[in-house]
Amino acid sequence: MKRPDDIAAAVEALKSGKLVLLPTETVYGLAADAGDPVAVAAIFEAKGRPRFNPLISHVASLAQAERLAVFDDRARALAEAFWPGPLTLVLPVKDREAISDLARAGLETTAIRVPAHPLARAVLEAVDRPIVAPSANRSGRPSPTSFQDAVEETGDAAAVALDGGDCPVGLESTVVAVLDAVRLLRPGAVTRAQIETVVGPLAEAQDDAKRSPGRLSLHYAPDAPVRINAAAPRHGEAYLAFGEPGPFSLSPTGDLREAAANLFRMLREADRTKPAGIAVAPIPAEGLGEAINDRLKRAAGFVG
Ligand code: TXA
Ligand code: MG
Repeated sequence: MKRPDDIAAAVEALKSGKLVLLPTETVYGLAADAGDPVAVAAIFEAKGRPRFNPLISHVASLAQAERLAVFDDRARALAEAFWPGPLTLVLPVKDREAISDLARAGLETTAIRVPAHPLARAVLEAVDRPIVAPSANRSGRPSPTSFQDAVEETGDAAAVALDGGDCPVGLESTVVAVLDAVRLLRPGAVTRAQIETVVGPLAEAQDDAKRSPGRLSLHYAPDAPVRINAAAPRHGEAYLAFGEPGPFSLSPTGDLREAAANLFRMLREADRTKPAGIAVAPIPAEGLGEAINDRLKRAAGFVG
């Protein structure tokens, strides 16, 4: 946990248009004031992120979120069920000043979430404005889930870096659009089944690159090529095991939560051994496995 003066330094930096490395329960984010186009532009620059890929605004409460975006009954029910926590809602934007055009990539919708991490919450409560925070990796690379990995990825761009230790969830938030229909745009830490418990069956995501651009390219990729659904490693490959022990076992006991928490860190650790490739054991498709397999498919260069 950080000392109060570190939190104050982060708040001060955000208010003066600077970037902050911010831990959340999912992954580390590179944060800036959503209403400051110069600061938001610096995020795109630091990540090498295409400007058509919109950012998620993070806020302290549902009440604050309702001033920024339009919530209907379905959106409110989802927020009440899963906030604070790893669910992002894509909703019609209400306050176009507080969430700048650049943060929304010019869309009339905005992505918004209330994170659960105590450090993120302390900062958001003190700063009292929406804070965009994409995962702190450079574009296309695995998201950082440790302080060290976050600093290595984009630390140079940040005026303040808050050390929250390892991110407990390890996978990004689930992104759900609540517009005409309720659609799953990105599987994540909150499972499809959990969401359907609240709003019933989800519509399939539209194949619309502009609406969920993060989902269409090689993404989450280490330097070594990734081979998925691999029963065993080939010569020269590092092996991410599942349900058995090993130097890079995602979960020796076959626990999906543990595998999610370890996924990005182990991809990075395996990559550091400079293997010919990284082979990954088959991961069951149910529950959190949907999000894990989504990230692995993209890391391997398959468009899902
Ligand atoms: O867990 C998370 O969500 C992390 C932590 C730091 O909060 N953040 C994160 O942000 O993963 P980022 O920027 O890496 O991913 C945001 C995703 C992208 O796929 C983006 O395309 C989508 O959300 N997104 C943002 N605004 C959108 C919108 N208006 N419509 C559709 N998709 C949107
Ligand atoms: Mg990302």
